Amino acid sequence: MKRVGILTSGGDCQGLNAAIRGVAKALYVEFGDKVEIYGILDGYRGLIQGEYRLMKPSDFSGILTLGGTILGTSRQPFKQMRVPDEKIGDKVEAMKENYKKMKLDCLVILGGNGTHKTANLLSEEGLNVVTLPKTIDNDLWGTEMTFGFYSALELATEVIDCIHTTATSHGRVFIVEIMGHKVGWLPLYAGVAGGADMILLPEIPYKMENLIKMLDNRDKQGKRFSIIAVAEGAISEEEAKMSKKEFKKARAEITDPAISYKIARELGKATNREIRVVVPGHFQRGGGPCSYDRAFATRLGSYAARLISNGNYGNMVALRDGEIVPVPLSEVAGKLKTVPLDCSMIKSARDIGISFGDE
Ligand code: F6P
Repeated sequence: MKRVGILTSGGDCQGLNAAIRGVAKALYVEFGDKVEIYGILDGYRGLIQGEYRLMKPSDFSGILTLGGTILGTSRQPFKQMRVPDEKIGDKVEAMKENYKKMKLDCLVILGGNGTHKTANLLSEEGLNVVTLPKTIDNDLWGTEMTFGFYSALELATEVIDCIHTTATSHGRVFIVEIMGHKVGWLPLYAGVAGGADMILLPEIPYKMENLIKMLDNRDKQGKRFSIIAVAEGAISEEEAKMSKKEFKKARAEITDPAISYKIARELGKATNREIRVVVPGHFQRGGGPCSYDRAFATRLGSYAARLISNGNYGNMVALRDGEIVPVPLSEVAGKLKTVPLDCSMIKSARDIGISFGDE
């Protein structure tokens, strides 16, 4: 009997259930009734506390289009993994212990950056691990794409589309803040797809004088409105020059619920305009996966089952040059895939006159 544990960890995204289904269906096809799949609840929390349930094949039916995760998820920071818990003691040891108690042959872990650091640690500690790259941020090193990204992109773009009509009616300036954590993939693609006039990314620090210049230029061209897509991790040139400590302190002093409000206030003051802010936030992670993510997550999931069948552990299933391939966890863990400044999407955006606030 093959015994496979599966968990989803970190922020949820669209396509998690499609990926879980892909893993499970492919395992049942390969092993028939010679496989048992254990759903570990709420990510690493369930593995630490020994909360899991034996899944039935029917648990994986009808979930392809379902948003969220049927297993539940939680954020368990990597930094805290070696900090002993009062009741449980060492969390890594607890996870190893539960893996043994469940008599697992391997663990399938669906997660983003933080999740992969812990997955790599568990692999180094001797557990058989296979991971799948999930996050709307697309910031996982080692794969060209993560599932969740395209679904979130559809939603973020729709927000900008809707803002376009009301901005046009009123002749207003709008800032739409797009998720993406510390990288700009989602705001970049949503900004271009939604026809934003300016896109502010964490990778390209902005100068307030360039935001003012952009609005003035659009006024001169007789444009009635402007839309600025701001990454939640956008930073100014002054902030980019700060040390990590100074930056943290400066950000801690900001009382606004999102960085866009600060930018709007400063821009509003400098140009004597009212600037409206829209922060779609977790809406971008909600609902079911788009067709690309359904197909992509299924592809990744079924490939994970193949790796399990071959006993090929210690890898993340990744997309490279259009192919699904295994990438060692040790190469993935702890690295961030930021937007390269010379990437073609940035070039195309600049070519059509979109400003990034740096010039
Ligand atoms: O990683 C996905 C993400 O949605 C980021 O874009 C965002 O910075 C973060 O998660 C929000 O985290 P939480 O769901 O814990 O508020």
